[in-house]
Amino acid sequence: MQLLLTLLLSAVVNGAAIQKRDPPVGGDVVAAQVQALAESMRTATPKKAMKVEEITPRFAGAKRLRLQYGPYKLKAANSTTRVGNGMSMDKGGTGYQYLVADDYPRDVTVLETETMILDEKFQRADTKDGIYNHHNVFMDFTSAPVAAFGCEDLGKAATIPISVLSGGATEVAGMTFAAAKNEIKSGYYLTKDRHVLNMMDVVNYNNVERTVYISAEIEFLPGKVPGYLDARQQLVDPGLCSGESGTGIHPPHGVTKFSVNSTGIVVAHDGYIVNMRGHLHDGGVNIVFKVNNKEICNSVATYGGPGHTSHTSDGKVWETIATTTLCDTPLKVTKGDKIYMEAHYDLEQHPSREQGGHGGMKMGAMKTVLDGDDGAEQMALIVTHFAYAK
Ligand SMILES: *[C@@H]1O[C@H](CO)[C@@H](O)[C@H](O)[C@H]1NC(C)=O
Ligand SMILES: *[C@@H]1O[C@H](CO)[C@@H](O)[C@H](O)[C@H]1NC(C)=O
Repeated sequence: MQLLLTLLLSAVVNGAAIQKRDPPVGGDVVAAQVQALAESMRTATPKKAMKVEEITPRFAGAKRLRLQYGPYKLKAANSTTRVGNGMSMDKGGTGYQYLVADDYPRDVTVLETETMILDEKFQRADTKDGIYNHHNVFMDFTSAPVAAFGCEDLGKAATIPISVLSGGATEVAGMTFAAAKNEIKSGYYLTKDRHVLNMMDVVNYNNVERTVYISAEIEFLPGKVPGYLDARQQLVDPGLCSGESGTGIHPPHGVTKFSVNSTGIVVAHDGYIVNMRGHLHDGGVNIVFKVNNKEICNSVATYGGPGHTSHTSDGKVWETIATTTLCDTPLKVTKGDKIYMEAHYDLEQHPSREQGGHGGMKMGAMKTVLDGDDGAEQMALIVTHFAYAK
């Protein structure tokens, strides 16, 4: 169970859909276990927010709520006593998991969400402060999203029965299901019987117990709005159809500059790519995304700035990835359209966390579980929000 959950969460957090490959070696078994796990999640304990505020919406006519959850105790770094009711992927971490209660919206068309971990003073908890947000995700276990991307030569791809509603696979913990300038109408319809589970895993590097809170913003229109296309987060993994998965890339031996290219990916459902952004770890330079050979997004990583600059143990300035360009002009796509992504890396210019960290924070706990190898630090994913045409 633990391993499966780890795998599942890695898939959600790192954004890999658990896809059936050809031949489906164990694929059906994994799918069945994931289904069983999803089933068990529906009965987790519900938790009410400490505080619910209505705040200014970003989209005209919408309503935006900020829900605050907690307090959540984090174990001290030097303590071996387990705290929390969830699992942590880091041996120094604390995990919590709860279903949201009735105060969290239901039967709404979600336009945008944003999540954040707050410290004791209700300020954004920061790595400077010794608090590292491994993940903080709100997942909807109600139904499996339809795969938006698949392979030229395979049948329909199977996806796990989970949709990420909030948090997840982006550097910025904001997710927008609606088009930036209302070019198309789309949103994530959250059903009346939604089962939304919040899973958090936070690492405390201080030798004292700490307390954190979760801030979860959700902007929505009431009900299932007629004319709105349903949207979900959908990821493009260069290894979807063949080759290495974009969730754990092994840099080629003795090379610091290299690229990872996808092959054979196609659009699996008519619709719109509402917005898209590359997901890279330290070492990544950019990801170029093409549809039918035409470049539609060049998502470039930005390094450094407040909260993303520190020093290595030998005193060198060490800049970590801050964000990647968001491309938010919706693009209409048709089933069969050819998808191509090309991710570029320069490990000399941007040392990966493990190389640069010199025994500082260890961020690689998850990859050890996934492939048991030290070399797979790099990521290459395109995170999209996809609206399905009817
Ligand atoms: C952890 O470190 C704190 C501060 O140095 C100390 O007071 C405490 O006794 C330590 N706890 C353990 C279990 O070592
Ligand atoms: C990816 O494509 C680019 C441009 O076509 C090429 O230069 C590069 O060698 C390719 N990388 C791999 C790993 O095939």
